[in-house]
Amino acid sequence: MKALLLAGGKGTRLRPLTIHTPKPIVPIFNRPFLHYQIDLLRQVPEIDEVILSLNYQPRRIEEMFGDGSEVGIKIRYVVEPAPLGTAGAIKYAGDDLRESVVVFNGDVLTEINLAEVIALHRSRKARATIVLTPVDNPTAYGLVDTDAEGNIQRFLEKPNADEITTNNINAGIYILEPDTFDRIPSNVSWSIERSYFPSLIERQETFVAYVYGGYWIDIGTPAKYSQVHRDIMDGRYAAEPFRSGAAAHTWISPDAKIEDGATIEGPCFVDEGALVKAGATVGPYSVIGRQTQVEEGAVVTGAIVWPNCRISRDATVREAILGRQCHIGRNVTIGPGAVLGDKTTLTDFTRA
Ligand code: GDD
Ligand code: MG
Repeated sequence: MKALLLAGGKGTRLRPLTIHTPKPIVPIFNRPFLHYQIDLLRQVPEIDEVILSLNYQPRRIEEMFGDGSEVGIKIRYVVEPAPLGTAGAIKYAGDDLRESVVVFNGDVLTEINLAEVIALHRSRKARATIVLTPVDNPTAYGLVDTDAEGNIQRFLEKPNADEITTNNINAGIYILEPDTFDRIPSNVSWSIERSYFPSLIERQETFVAYVYGGYWIDIGTPAKYSQVHRDIMDGRYAAEPFRSGAAAHTWISPDAKIEDGATIEGPCFVDEGALVKAGATVGPYSVIGRQTQVEEGAVVTGAIVWPNCRISRDATVREAILGRQCHIGRNVTIGPGAVLGDKTTLTDFTRA
């Protein structure tokens, strides 16, 4: 059985972080996001190949995962000549599929038991099965109504507030029968959410829901990207290096340097080669990337700082996200909510 990951979007809501780093490989702590999805897929022995459907900056992703031998599963890449939308991408990448395929949006993190979803798909002899998950506000997602037997009655992408009839949304995880792809036109942009799913309902094909109440998040906005780090530090989602339940969920690389007189308040993460100088503070829910320096008197709290940044003396970085190689000058105060692209330089005393 094959898994197809839709990983070709531009990641616009995560800009500027995604200008130089496509969303599927933004780091979560020190691992590119796709690693977490591949870990989940590897739990299903039946899945023997992952097809990555790419469009935006595909080479960066291919270079990182190669043929998959380092992550323990065969990986194949299909690069669209132009973005074909979620259904067009499946048609383009999955044209030679002859058996049920697992499809994943390339930006969702979850602990779902995929084998159970596959079993439901088979027992219901479904043409398509989709995972639903409850959220507080469905407007940013695809709203899905079902009947009491779990048959899907309505799929409404990005509903207006007055159209909300349920909290259950499309979790971006599907099991599909490839012979249903015949309705997807070739080489034009087509949406699985707006066209393919509604078509299954219209034609009254067996289209069923698996409702999942466990951990699920779409990392595609700065708020959610920050949230996933907090969730892992708090133990709501189990992932290395926090899996072991280490005290206070603080992880400091043995190859980081924390000078005497520096203050570290957990939970937080300090990666290898980082330097936290005397008098500096790394506060709760901070992530300090590889080789990043936090100088005397600087405070980083609730912020995610990618590798090779420098936070100069007496600067304060609060609840912000910093791309790679940012240079934050002395006495700068930024956040909450700031998102800086790679190589941003902030002059001394900047406030933002
Ligand atoms: N290959 C390819 N080509 N991939 C694409 C394209 C494309 O043209 N467009 C989007 N993708 C990929 C994105 O990279 C992402 O992994 C996935 O498809 C979904 O696109 P998003 O842009 O993240 O969609 P969304 O988050 O607004 O909504 C989708 O996900 C929600 C769950 O997180 C929808 O499927 C909603 O119905 C769903 O609730
Ligand atoms: Mg998304």
